[in-house]
Amino acid sequence: MSGIITRECIDEILARCDLSDIVGLYTPVKKAGGRLKALCPFHQEKTPSFMINPDRQVYHCFGCGKGGNAFRFVMEKENMDFREAALFLAERSGVTITYEKGRRPSDAPETSRVGKDRLFKLHDLLSTWYNRNLLKNPSSAVGGYVAERKIPEEIIEQFKIGAAPDSYDETLKFCKGEGFNEEEILAAGLLIKNENSGTVYDRFRNRLIFPVSDEQNRVVGFSARTVETNFEGGKYINSPETPIFKKNRLLYGLNLARKEVEDKKFAIICEGQFDVIAFYRAFYPMAVAPMGTAFSEEQARILGRYCEKIFLALDSDEAGIKAALRNIEILLPLNFQILVLRFPEKEDPDSMLEKHGSDGIHDVFSDAVDFFDFIFDHFSSKNDISNPFGRDAVVKQVLSYLAKIESQVIRLHFSSELARKLKIPESAVFGELNSIKDGDRRRELYRRDDREKAENMEEQISSPALKGEEILLELSLLHGTVAKYLSDNLRSEMISKTGVGRALEKVISLTLNGEWEFSTEAVKEMLTEQADPPLSRILTEPQDIPEDKREKAVRECVLRIKETYLKTTIDDLIAKMRNSEGEPVQDELKNTFVEKTREFRKLMEEIKQIKSMP
Ligand code: UTP
Ligand code: MN
Repeated sequence: MSGIITRECIDEILARCDLSDIVGLYTPVKKAGGRLKALCPFHQEKTPSFMINPDRQVYHCFGCGKGGNAFRFVMEKENMDFREAALFLAERSGVTITYEKGRRPSDAPETSRVGKDRLFKLHDLLSTWYNRNLLKNPSSAVGGYVAERKIPEEIIEQFKIGAAPDSYDETLKFCKGEGFNEEEILAAGLLIKNENSGTVYDRFRNRLIFPVSDEQNRVVGFSARTVETNFEGGKYINSPETPIFKKNRLLYGLNLARKEVEDKKFAIICEGQFDVIAFYRAFYPMAVAPMGTAFSEEQARILGRYCEKIFLALDSDEAGIKAALRNIEILLPLNFQILVLRFPEKEDPDSMLEKHGSDGIHDVFSDAVDFFDFIFDHFSSKNDISNPFGRDAVVKQVLSYLAKIESQVIRLHFSSELARKLKIPESAVFGELNSIKDGDRRRELYRRDDREKAENMEEQISSPALKGEEILLELSLLHGTVAKYLSDNLRSEMISKTGVGRALEKVISLTLNGEWEFSTEAVKEMLTEQADPPLSRILTEPQDIPEDKREKAVRECVLRIKETYLKTTIDDLIAKMRNSEGEPVQDELKNTFVEKTREFRKLMEEIKQIKSMP
């Protein structure tokens, strides 16, 4: 089951499966006035803002901005890669997968020759074997450690905790005995290869084994704690990255927590395996932990599919506070409600449970503080807020977090709160917030550009020009005549490098090739690679402009884009002239400057003219 799925096969899947059926697996789809609507399966809402366009087979949520085609939907909803989504959709639409002959995915590492299903099978068998080893040998070093840390037997069962034997080859032998070859066992990350001698030996030796499972509850890797006092390697050793173990996309405990998180509508992020288990034992089975790496955006998105509220349970030392701040920064743009649990100095959930039992953990929840109070307390303890300079610093630091909140209502709420706490006028805080947001927004657009052009683009991408591009993309997808007009009147250099800009370029170049009919398909394809809210909105709910007003609108948008482009060019020239005083290029720059300003004046005339048109 390896190889590249053929293009024809992908097309057939897309042709045969109906997006509303696929969406219907997760949320009821309703017909409303010729449109298909649903409660968004990606975020929680009470009135439907998730739209499906059945003709184009694309969706867009006006609430959270998610959008795309059936592939994108399954990839996001099931946390699958393109290939897995293809298998998922093929099965549901009765398509037989066909693979390209004699080719391997060129970008895939060597190990991907081993099929994922073999790796799943191997992890499944091995985790059971590790688990038995532990239960069968209570007097082994690992068994002794388990007793010392008072891990009850039902926990060992539920988390399938195990023991790696104190040996260099017993794991290897077990896997071979189950019919796996060395290449497969290596690909699973279970062996270490000595590059000089070429010999291999077990990666996990004499360690307590925590199997790590994916959301479909398949074991995909291991995190292994030493049971020795003088140990070599890390206190914990994890499986390396493999085709099925992507640390940034996995959270320890999520397989067990998933259902609870959905039911109780919150998750707990803590630091490690023992903390997850402590929460579980204290009747909070919704805890998860990253594995030795910083909490990632990817992991935040995964949690966002199940809940909107997060409790952070991190150490109260300096490192823990830093981690909490970083997590808050990652979670805020995704609109999570965030609360911080505070543990007494030097305690973590595991030691808390040990000392105070589940009541101790429960009490921590009743004392949880809002993320806002957490950051406010943190930054005001680092500054002297009795003087205006200190207050200014706190405002700036706290606002750098608040500015990341997507919802304006919530952002403004906390901004007022900040003003109130510091006893300064709201207007001062709001003013500061706006300037931060402006900069952020521009940087955001800029991140999507290609890096080289980024410098010049920053100014160029002003919102009227972007809005213009959106309208033009919408219209040029609906009307070949508009696309034709653009191919004659809009130069590539004027178009932004945003998703919408790139889509517009694509439509124009297809039109120039006499292939305008394929442009909707081509733009839809862009969405499979990367989500882009404006693009999916345009594809799902295109807004047409009646024929009698269309020409004027199109011309106006083109002029607006040109205006922004010329302004940037002129600003650039001014800057260049300033920097080249006395140099020979001066004259040339001056000529271009005169020419461009003349062009600009002409453009303004044109804009005036078109505005006065009926
Ligand atoms: P900690 O060192 O804070 O340990 O690591 P802990 O969770 O309290 O574990 P115990 O109680 O000493 O056993 C937190 C988490 O970071 C990861 C592990 O997932 C661990 O649970 N970690 C830590 C690693 O991946 N590698 C390491 O070397 C250390
Ligand atoms: Mn601990």
